Amino acid sequence: MQSIYFLLGNKIQNVVFNEEIKPTTTLLKYLRSKPDHKGTKEGCGEGDCGACTVVVAELGANDTLIYKAINSCLVFLPWVHGKQIITVEHLGTFDQLHPVQQAMVSHPASQCGFCTPGFVMSAFALFKSGEDINEDTVNESLVGNLCRCTGYKPIREAILSLKGLDRNDQFSQNEKETINLLKQINLRNSTLTFSTGRQHFFLTFNLRETLTLAATNPDAIKICGSTDAALRVTKKHENLGLIIDFSNVPELKIITETETHYHIGAGTSLQLIKSFAKDKYPEIYKVLGLFGSKQIRNRATIGGNICISSPISDLLPILMADEAIVEIQSTENNRQELLEHFVTDYRQNSLTPDELLTSVVLPKKDKSIIKAYKISKRKDVDIATVNAAFRLKVDDGKVQIFRAYFGGMAKIVKKATKLEAFMVGKPWEERTIEAAKEWLMYDFTPISDARASANGRMLLAQNLLTKFWLDSLQEL
Ligand SMILES: Cc1cc2nc3c(=O)[nH]c(=O)nc-3n(C[C@H](O)[C@H](O)[C@H](O)COP(=O)(O)OP(=O)(O)OC[C@H]3O[C@@H](n4cnc5c(N)ncnc54)[C@H](O)[C@@H]3O)c2cc1C
Ligand code: FES
Ligand code: FES
Repeated sequence: MQSIYFLLGNKIQNVVFNEEIKPTTTLLKYLRSKPDHKGTKEGCGEGDCGACTVVVAELGANDTLIYKAINSCLVFLPWVHGKQIITVEHLGTFDQLHPVQQAMVSHPASQCGFCTPGFVMSAFALFKSGEDINEDTVNESLVGNLCRCTGYKPIREAILSLKGLDRNDQFSQNEKETINLLKQINLRNSTLTFSTGRQHFFLTFNLRETLTLAATNPDAIKICGSTDAALRVTKKHENLGLIIDFSNVPELKIITETETHYHIGAGTSLQLIKSFAKDKYPEIYKVLGLFGSKQIRNRATIGGNICISSPISDLLPILMADEAIVEIQSTENNRQELLEHFVTDYRQNSLTPDELLTSVVLPKKDKSIIKAYKISKRKDVDIATVNAAFRLKVDDGKVQIFRAYFGGMAKIVKKATKLEAFMVGKPWEERTIEAAKEWLMYDFTPISDARASANGRMLLAQNLLTKFWLDSLQEL
């Protein structure tokens, strides 16, 4: 099969791949190539500005639709197969605006208008999600949208004014029909293959077929949320010749629990993990609150973040401090590894080309104190200059267990082993912390770059140690 089917608004679309519309054509490019779909804008092409925000509605459990805002600039077209894509053009007409659009008009929340469709779609996703509309949920929904002229106050007030409104709009009224159409498209769930002259793209729907393809195509680029991989096309203009997209594999999106551990599927989105962590792992919840934007978290996966193995990954320090284990599968083998050992070098890990990271195993929280910190130039949608996670157990005033993992201080996220050795057995008090700071200099030789100087990084890391000590006093 060379084509995909999806709903654009309420109309079925069939896209046939060829040299012009390649499988790595982004949803944004495709939309803007269509007549009457120029509302979706390109600002940055890398997930930062939100001008390209559209809403995807996917089939959920018990005949429901789940609405999410996504950055269309980071989505390769095959992913939309079997889903409904809603753009600003589908919301209202000049005579009858959708309540979200009407709110923007009533609170003069637009000037030049370039960013407005993106804001409207982020707000529309919140409106359709059924979540309460309040300061927190509005801020969370709008963090991934930039406006250069109106100012955020009227925009936030417009969206807040939706609280209490009847959410039964035309999409709710058409929901049954939409679900039936999507079910028809989704009848077939074995691998779809799209081959054009210079590209082969596999869209898989189960783990077994994904592993077989990984074994027979060792050179293939594997993608899940594609928030990182898409940049290779939009920013580096690479031709990705061979791709396995396993973002539709349900086995990789399950979170299960035993008496002692949680098992999180590698393909679980960070937004879903954020909701899961709210009560169970407050520190992971906090870390994800500062991770990208809601549009990014709706697509980005935990497996993707771990496999990129970035030295400034926001999840690696906290997961390592939690002693997370990764589960890895191939057609030949299943294995487990401590996450700390999985990352081997700059953006390198122990995966072989035929292997897939399938899940992350997290021990349930014990009595130790765990805290994570991120320092970046901007609070939201920014990458870390330095980040860290600490784990502490104190017995009778003395340090029994101490772990410290730092990002941005070396070519990988790394444990401060010398600091740890110094700490164990010492009294947990200010004098120890002051003396311990010196040991960080034996653990790390950071570099200077555009984000910070080497000395600045060291100072930040030392100050984070003090911050952890101060924060720990609230819990001891
Ligand atoms: C605007 C923006 C903001 C961001 N903000 C942050 C941030 O605040 N903090 C942060 O840490 N990162 C951030 N990122 C980086 C990125 O979004 C995350 O690392 C994300 O979790 C990657 O997951 P993904 O599923 O999208 O990866 P993909 O792009 O799908 O995959 C990336 C690579 O990982 C490998 N891979 C993915 N999953 C697996 C698997 N299960 N098994 C084997 N290999 C796999 C493949 O080699 C693939 O090429 C940001 C990115 C953008 C564009
Ligand atoms: S164009 Fe800026 S986020 Fe997509
Ligand atoms: S209205 Fe001009 S950028 Fe937002």
